[in-house]
Amino acid sequence: MDRLLTGLQPSGSLTIGNYAGGISQIVNYQKDYETFLFVPDMHAITVPQDPEALHRNIINAIAMYIACGVDPNLENMHIYIQSENLYHANLSWIFECHTPHGDLTRMHQFKAKSALHEAFTEGLVTYPDLMAADILLYDPKYVPTGIDQKQHVELARNLAIRFNNRYGELFRIPEPLIPTIGAKIRDLQNPEQKMSKSTDNPKASVFLSDPEKTIRKKIMSAVTDSDGIIKFDEENKPGVSNLLTIYSVFTGSTIEDAVAKFEGGGYGDLKKAVAEAVVSKVVPFQDKYNEVMNSGIIDDILDAGRDYTIEIAREKYELVRKAVGFGRI
Ligand code: TYM
Repeated sequence: MDRLLTGLQPSGSLTIGNYAGGISQIVNYQKDYETFLFVPDMHAITVPQDPEALHRNIINAIAMYIACGVDPNLENMHIYIQSENLYHANLSWIFECHTPHGDLTRMHQFKAKSALHEAFTEGLVTYPDLMAADILLYDPKYVPTGIDQKQHVELARNLAIRFNNRYGELFRIPEPLIPTIGAKIRDLQNPEQKMSKSTDNPKASVFLSDPEKTIRKKIMSAVTDSDGIIKFDEENKPGVSNLLTIYSVFTGSTIEDAVAKFEGGGYGDLKKAVAEAVVSKVVPFQDKYNEVMNSGIIDDILDAGRDYTIEIAREKYELVRKAVGFGRI
């Protein structure tokens, strides 16, 4: 069985963007691939985190994956926490010593985040090397993500190719798996940018944990434009296109069908329908989330995921360690 691998940072509550770009893809493909789904808590501390909140967000994230339909009972599903497997950091160091600094500082995400945190840390710079380690330890065929992570997956691909050329076949070359609809859900208040977990504007992002009333309010106050025409044009009408995208993600329809359904109508009706689509999917997730949180299964799932994935990572790391000349033969 080919492998699929992805992670979602526990740097806040998960958004409907994380659902579209990450979780929903895992749910769609989980029966056909051996799936590696992990919480990248080491990535989260590249920007300041409150330790108590970080602990909580890690467990909440796992419960939310399962609530959204990730099936922890599948034999081929492995759910784990990045920091519980020390090989991620070990391999990351080796990658850091093989990546030109300029390749890291030209990453879009680095540029955006370093602009927000004046005294940014070295971890923010080397972040893509850690992400490459997360991926390449497990030889996945695909890495499902939103469009924002594509550049990082490309860096991992380039590292894999360079290592294979220099040291012999070590890594499978992974491919990003970007959804055709929902690869970039936009901020509801500033549709020029992507919806994010860590926003300061309380109306910008819809969280999977938001109460029904809040979801409806946020979507009803989404910024659109003043020409009053419903059509899909991401460049000139990012707000309206975003609403059509969210509708499609949460109803399973195509963009064309969504446009056909709403064209000629008003923005108010479109927003109402989008809110309804999101609420009717997300509210049942929340019921299931509470069930999972109360069930006591999370620790067992994480123990099993950790033990299984450490063995795979150990084997890969041993090969790389020897290839680069570390330790004893
Ligand atoms: P993160 O935590 O920012 O996002 C988790 C997943 O959600 C996707 N995503 C979106 N998709 C559509 N619209 C949006 N507005 C949106 N916002 C986020 C992301 O593309 C991602 O798929 N560096 C990664 C975490 C990571 C990782 C990895 C992913 C660490 N190691 C290895 C894959 C493989 C990140 O910060 O994602």
